[in-house]
Order: sequence, then structure tokens, then C-alpha cells
Amino acid sequence: MSQSDLFGAPASGTPDAASPAQQAANLREQLHFHAHRYYVLDDPQIPDAEYDRLFQALQALEAAHPELRTPDSPTQRVLGKVLDGFMPVRHAVPMLSIRTETDTQASGAEAFDARVRRELGLPEDAPQVEYAAELKFDGLAINLRYESGVLVQAATRGDGEQGEDVTQNIRTIGQIPLKLKVAGAAPEVLEVRGEVYMRRDDFEALNERQRQQGDKTFVNPRNAAAGAVRQLDPGIAARRPLSFFAYGLGEVKGWDVPPTHSGLLDALRDMGLPVCAERTVAQGASGPNGLVAFHQAIGQRRDQLPFDIDGVVYKVNSRELQERLGFVTREPRWAVAHKYPAQEQLTQVEGIDIQVGRTGKLTPVARLKPVFVGGVTVTNATLHNLFELRRKRVRVGDTVIVRRAGDVIPEVVGVVGEARASYVPNFRMPAHCPVCGSTVVRERGEVDHRCTGGLFCAAQRKQALLHFAQRRAVEIEGLGDKLVDQLVDSGLVRTLPELYKLGLAKLAALDRMADKSAQNIVNALEKSKTTTLPRFLFGLGIRHVGEATAKDLARHFGGIDRIMDASVDQLLTVRDVGPVVAQSIRTFFDQAHNREVVEQLRAAGVTWPEHEPSAEADAASLPLSGKTLVLTGTLPTLSREDAKAMIEAAGGKVAGSVSKKTHYVIAGEEAGSKLEKAQSLGVPVLDEAGLLALLAPGADSADSPAPADPADAAGTPSQADQN
Ligand code: IVH
Repeated sequence: MSQSDLFGAPASGTPDAASPAQQAANLREQLHFHAHRYYVLDDPQIPDAEYDRLFQALQALEAAHPELRTPDSPTQRVLGKVLDGFMPVRHAVPMLSIRTETDTQASGAEAFDARVRRELGLPEDAPQVEYAAELKFDGLAINLRYESGVLVQAATRGDGEQGEDVTQNIRTIGQIPLKLKVAGAAPEVLEVRGEVYMRRDDFEALNERQRQQGDKTFVNPRNAAAGAVRQLDPGIAARRPLSFFAYGLGEVKGWDVPPTHSGLLDALRDMGLPVCAERTVAQGASGPNGLVAFHQAIGQRRDQLPFDIDGVVYKVNSRELQERLGFVTREPRWAVAHKYPAQEQLTQVEGIDIQVGRTGKLTPVARLKPVFVGGVTVTNATLHNLFELRRKRVRVGDTVIVRRAGDVIPEVVGVVGEARASYVPNFRMPAHCPVCGSTVVRERGEVDHRCTGGLFCAAQRKQALLHFAQRRAVEIEGLGDKLVDQLVDSGLVRTLPELYKLGLAKLAALDRMADKSAQNIVNALEKSKTTTLPRFLFGLGIRHVGEATAKDLARHFGGIDRIMDASVDQLLTVRDVGPVVAQSIRTFFDQAHNREVVEQLRAAGVTWPEHEPSAEADAASLPLSGKTLVLTGTLPTLSREDAKAMIEAAGGKVAGSVSKKTHYVIAGEEAGSKLEKAQSLGVPVLDEAGLLALLAPGADSADSPAPADPADAAGTPSQADQN
């Protein structure tokens, strides 16, 4: 065993005196090592640039000495020519398939275990059979042939007897070692079988790239992987991000195969081949360490895996028992695939409807001939937006692939079959919201169509209520998802103002609502009525009006009526308000019902302080503009959030730590190290009263109050600081 095997990266310092052959061998060894860390272990040890440097050094050396170029050189991954077709390859050992148990849950594993025990002739009371349990990857089977440790050929499964030579494409897969890591002599022949697949994130990225280049996208990772492997141009194949997992053997000469399947996978992993870590050795079918438990555990995590699987595979772990069990036709008796419900199915589009989401987004939804997919019967599937729909060319009457993965909403992945013979009109988005009749718009540069109905649109009410009630808006404590659903679904609340008409009796009458909770909501509603203009404005949920914009608008206009009446041009004079935001505000208040909501909220008693318009109230003329403040400790009446909001409304900034650039530290009770730091840096320290004085109109740095006595402001700072 070389030193590099024991201690990690191969030594990199090849003496200059080394012969070109030695240098090339050294570089190759380093590149193999780092490629394995990067592609297989996902744990690179050196930066990409350093890898590139080594790679280029080897390329240069091989260019100068072509005789040093070896087939296992990392520079030789993409070397093939564009082919007319693939050469046939006869498999030395046939590539079998596995029997599938489609039964659900326990029975699949139990039926297999029972069969194995029967076929082995085991008595009832014999100990449990040991199984290797692994994932059934959803890609395509490949045979990798290594001779003396060097990859010489890669072939598809084909009909099991004869496949196709796809060596030049498979060589482009970084995860597949061109040379096996072995201590001592490499096996004369070692055929490794496994699955080539595409990770979901790689698939998404590939499709995104295809879309941008105007090329066709792939319907799923499996098809994308299969397409890449059978790509005649290896240059294109190299740009398709493929991965590989080893799961078995073909022909072997000159290697002692480990006595168990799990041991075999460990050995392959140690040779540098990617082996999936999601596997286990199970004893029998039932019990905490049985096959059933594995099937269930993986089933629950299926959608969180970075790649698609369509089931799990159980294999009798002992090779000796495998041999005793043997084969029936093309399937081993010692292995079985236990599938999960398919996540994709074919069905027909019966219609295309429009759904209005909580944010007003209009989503075209395919109404489907009911189909059982992903474990449930699906009758609707999203088409996302008009552009996706057009891109996929989905029309009523089409046969489509529907996908439902886990809790994700079912989607139409694509159309199968030929273009329609008869004329079917193109789908169009409606001009008016099917729920509330408001105008539908699509903003420039956006793919989504939206209903402009805002607070008035029933489909958007829930979202609007939650947005209005959130902490950063008017804050109605206790008004969460569940209550909002109940209120809207029961018809009790249709608009924001109706929240304030609820009253104790109506709330207490709701399902699962205790009197005390109802009273709490009533109190929270009452409390929310006293708010600020920025919070109120933000709470209205106008598109593009976030907290910061709401503050800017409030500061600039001082009152809600002036904002509602402002023209786009006037809105554009507000700091940080651009054309998109200005137009969105205008569109919102152009809807009469949105103005009514504001009126009714005011009538219900929602209030906030207003001030004169300060059209010129740009940054410079505010009391705290250009000032940085730090808050520490607990203030007697203001919450930290309120204090922060007030400071920001006055043009100031609130920072998290004290520095020489801090203008004031506002200290409350139990102020700690920040107060100490302020004192040591000579930064003025104020209490809450001092802060309020600073905020008073007319106050500016020239006549700012004298720093408060820190002992007053912070209680007993000397004590608190010792914490
Ligand atoms: S073992 C002798 N193990 O499923 C057993 N196959 O019909 C040969 N597959 O196309 C297969 N994951 O590509 C085995 N962990 C796994 C697998 C797996 C996916 C595929 C394989 C073949 C099909 C079996």
C-alpha cells in the first residue's frame, strides 16, 4: 500500500529531476485521488482551480510526450468521435432483471422472505435469513468492464445478452473511476454493474439550460440520463450531468469476491466506485431491523432523496445462499424489487381550468381523467403558467404524463404521442378573474397572470388576512392559518374590515374554540387597531410594497389619503420607488373596493398617527437621517421592534453592535456589554425618554438631549455587566 492510501492525498512534490513518465504518473495519481474526493465523496480537498492546474499540467505533458498518454488518464474522459451508431457488445455474463413485488407495505417483503425460506428448505424455526436491502435507482443499467484495474468498456443492458458499447459516453462521468483504487495487483477482469442516473438538481439545471438555449427539455431525470448515455456525440454527453451507483457484478477473473453482497458493495466502494450509502443489512422481513422497516423508512424519505427511486431491492446477503437459490429464466431467486407507487402515469386531459391562488396568481390546471399516481387518485394537475402550458403544447384531449411526488402538487410533465390531427384551439388566459371578475394582468417580464382584485377576491382573502395579521403588519396575535381557514370557509370573514366585526359570540361559536381563546382573539383585534401608517400600508398586501417601501411611502406622504390619490409620477418621487412599484400601488388603489376596505378599516377604529406631507422629506431632513443607533437592554415602554421602527421612520439606522461610528446607544434595563463598549468609546448613551426627545419633530443633533446618566438608563449596569 502506498503512502497516499494511508494518509490521504498523494504527495504532490515531484522533483523536477523526475522523468516525464514519472511526472505524468504522479499527476495522474493526484488527479484520480482528487476526482474521487470531488465526484464520489463530494468532499473535495483542494480548490477547483488547483485541480484545473494539475489537469492542465498533465495535458501539457501529454501533448509534449504523446507516448505517455494512457487510456486511464483523467485527460482522456472526453476523447471519442461522433458516432453513426453504437457497436454491439455481447455480455460475458447475462445482465438479468429482477422480479417485482408490487404488493403494498409489509406483504411484498414478507412474501419474498417466505419464498426464499421455502426454496432453501428452511424449517419453520430456522434462524432469520440475512438480506442486503438497497435502493432501486431509476436510471439505466450499465456494465463497466475493468481489466487489470483500468476501465476498458462500458455497455448498456440491451436485451440482457447483448447491449451497446457506450464507453466513450460513460467515460465522461466524473464519478466513474477510469482506474480502480486497489492495493496490490488489480483483478484481471472485474465487471461492475450499476445504474447511471441523473440527480434531480442536475436535471433541473440541465432543463433550465435547454430552455435558455431553446432546446427541447426532458420530461424526467430517467429519460434525460438515458438520452445522454445514448448520445452519439460524446461532447454533448459530457455536458449532461450523469451520476452512477454500483450494485452488483458481471464477469470476474482473478478476484476473491467477498462472501456477502453487503461486503461486495463495501469492497467496490473502497475501490473508488460510487456506492449508495442508503442501504442496510436486514434480518428477515418483520421486526425493527427487517425488510419491512427499511421499505417504510425509505418510503417516507423518498422525496427528500437527491435522485429518483422507484422502489427498494432486497438481496439474499450470502453469496453461497444466492448460488443455492439460483435463477428462474432471467431472474435470480435471491433478489426482488419492492416498488413504491409510481409517481408518473399516463392519462387524458379533459379540460383546462383556471385556479386563483392566494397571491392572486392564475394557474392553468389540467382537468384529468382520474388516474392513480403517487399513491392517490389524481383528477387535476398544475400546468404552472401560460408559458409552461404553451411550451409543453398541452391541449384538451391530449394524453399526458402526470407526476405526483410525495406531497408536491401533481403536475403535467409533458404530452406523449404525435401532434393532434384535428384542430384544437390554443388555450387563452381569461381577461377577468374567474373568481371575482377583476382585471387580470401580466406584468412585463413576468410569466404569471394575476388577478388585480386584491383584498376583494375570495381566493386571495385568506392570504390577505394572514398578511394583514402578521407581526410585521398590524399584528393580530392568534390569527393563524387554521383560524383564517375557518373564518373564510365558514363565510364569517370575507374582507379585512369584517375581522373587526367578529365579536366574542361568533368567535366562541367556532369549532374547537374555547371561550378563553375567543376572548384572546377579541383582545388581540382590539390591540391591533392602534397601529402605524407603515404597518397598515404594508398590511394591505399591495404587490411590491414591502416593509421598507411602506415606510418610505408613509414618510413621504404622511397620510393614507394622499397615498391613495397619488399619481404614478408623484409616487415616483418617493425614494426607492420605481415604475413597477408605483404602477402596482396605482393599480391597487384604482380598484374601488380596495379603497372601500381602507375606509371600512378606519370606520372600524383602526388608527395611526399621520403627519403633513413631507414631499421634500428626503433622507437629509429627517431628525435621525444619517445617524446610526444601537439598542440594548429592555426599554420601559417601547418594545425593541417599536423603537427600531420609530428610529427608522425618523431616517435613522439601527445597528447590532457598537463602534466608533455609532451616534447613540439607547440603553434600557439589563443593558450589557454594548453599554460598556459605548462608555469605553465615548458614544452618547440615552434612555427611552432621550430617544423620544430625539425623535420629536425639530430635534436634530444640534440640540439633542444630554446623554442620560447610564446608571439611570440601565438600572444597575455594573451588576448586569457581570452576567
Ligand atoms: S440488481 C441480478 N440492484 O432494476 C440482479 N438492480 O430489473 C440484477 N436497478 O434494470 C439487478 N437499482 O438497472 C439491482 N440496487 C439495484 C438496482 C437495480 C436499480 C435496476 C437495474 C435493472 C432493473 C432490474
